[in-house]
Amino acid sequence: MLDGMSTPLDRRTFLAGAAGLVPMALGQEKPVRIGVIGTGNRGTSLLRTILSLPGVEVPAVCEINETNLARAQGVVEKAGRTKAEGYSRGVEDYKRLLQRKDLDGVLIATPWELHAPMAVAAMQAGKYAGVEVPVALTVEECWQLVEASEKTKIPCMMLENVCYFRNVLLVMNMLRQGVLGDIIHSEVGYQHYFRNGPFTRDQSGDLTWRGVHTANKDGNQYPTHAIGPAAWWMNINRGDRFAYLTSMSTVSLGPKAAAVRRFGADSAAAKRTFAQGDVNTTMIRTENGMSVVLYYNIQSPRPYDLILRAQGTKGIYSGTLDKVYIEGRSPDAKNGEPDWEDAAKYYEQYEHPLWKRLSREAASSGHGGADYVTLHEFVKAVREKTETPIDVYDSTTWSVITPLSFESVAKRSAPVDFPDFTRGKWRTPRAIRIA
Ligand SMILES: NC(=O)c1ccc[n+]([C@@H]2O[C@H](COP(=O)([O-])OP(=O)(O)OC[C@H]3O[C@@H](n4cnc5c(N)ncnc54)[C@H](O)[C@@H]3O)[C@@H](O)[C@H]2O)c1
Repeated sequence: MLDGMSTPLDRRTFLAGAAGLVPMALGQEKPVRIGVIGTGNRGTSLLRTILSLPGVEVPAVCEINETNLARAQGVVEKAGRTKAEGYSRGVEDYKRLLQRKDLDGVLIATPWELHAPMAVAAMQAGKYAGVEVPVALTVEECWQLVEASEKTKIPCMMLENVCYFRNVLLVMNMLRQGVLGDIIHSEVGYQHYFRNGPFTRDQSGDLTWRGVHTANKDGNQYPTHAIGPAAWWMNINRGDRFAYLTSMSTVSLGPKAAAVRRFGADSAAAKRTFAQGDVNTTMIRTENGMSVVLYYNIQSPRPYDLILRAQGTKGIYSGTLDKVYIEGRSPDAKNGEPDWEDAAKYYEQYEHPLWKRLSREAASSGHGGADYVTLHEFVKAVREKTETPIDVYDSTTWSVITPLSFESVAKRSAPVDFPDFTRGKWRTPRAIRIA
């Protein structure tokens, strides 16, 4: 339902709108204009999703690969919109896009090393920055983002879509209502087998841009999908903070196994060395004494599993099982031990209001609808000119785990302190800006 004109206004909305109380009825939202930078796999998917939100226009797209640019422009036209202007004059052409006066915000979905410089430039140009994960790669880049956002007063939101998974929001709601008690521990992870290993799909044996990181660094190279939910559940930067981490990696065997399987034992690819251990385990302790165990494993054959386990003082939720145990409420097993209970009836009772409201529209978007909800929340903040639900402090605190884990792994798992990007503001409890 993209054409707002076909949506009849109900009487209350009409009167309120006429009195200037609410902007417009659903489908006639105040237009928000978003530029997209980087339209590879993820950028194209984000583009499709954002075009399905009411009142969003995409007048400009920046992409250095002409094929990907043309595909993105085709997506905009297919959605019934005016052809987006393309920016493809080299790696810095995004700066020209950022000079446009008609953009309220940008989505950035380029390779990792470009996220921070592009987001800083976006904020300096007065545009909300919606940035793919991770928002930055180094401690220094994190501080640059914090300083740019504080100085320009323009929000920067890492588009951490797992925070908006249905089960993650269910747990948020159950914690808020005291059903799980107080959260004490969380176990989460990015466990997603990359069958092609660090190599491109073709037979060249070349590394992908992610593969280059796998070759050069050892730690948790993709922490945000897992830590975002845990940090939200634990009110990190909103009354508690991550104090320090310690990180350990296994030996690296997966990339070589992938090379042998794909290109043969005598191939040049099979003779390369890779820094990244197959399984990285990072432990984080919070200032108030909570803990998180965080896994990173993209090299081992295994089904996808983010774990998403929340241990509270009254019970536990497991994302792997989609089951709960609540003391005094869940039936015990015959031997009197706690037993897992299906989460279905908890969804009926504690479904998050945001999910209830958006699940129908979200249904066809990626990651079980969470991509739609994420962009909905970003666009809402841009439209209303408010802070984003995931702010620059969350984005940097979650992303900085990568460089801190490199340091810990290199020092035989020595503890490494988190920088306090909030400069003390974490002490003040505040709600996450969701429904
Ligand atoms: N949140 C999620 O669920 C999710 C899923 C997949 C990927 N991602 C993230 O999305 C980002 C992109 O990943 P991808 O898989 O789409 O990679 P990709 O390689 O398919 O796409 C990156 C695109 O950026 C373009 N690009 C590179 N340099 C550019 C520049 N200077 N200016 C403009 N365009 C440029 C490339 O040509 C390419 O089309 C990564 O940060 C990744 O971690 C997130």
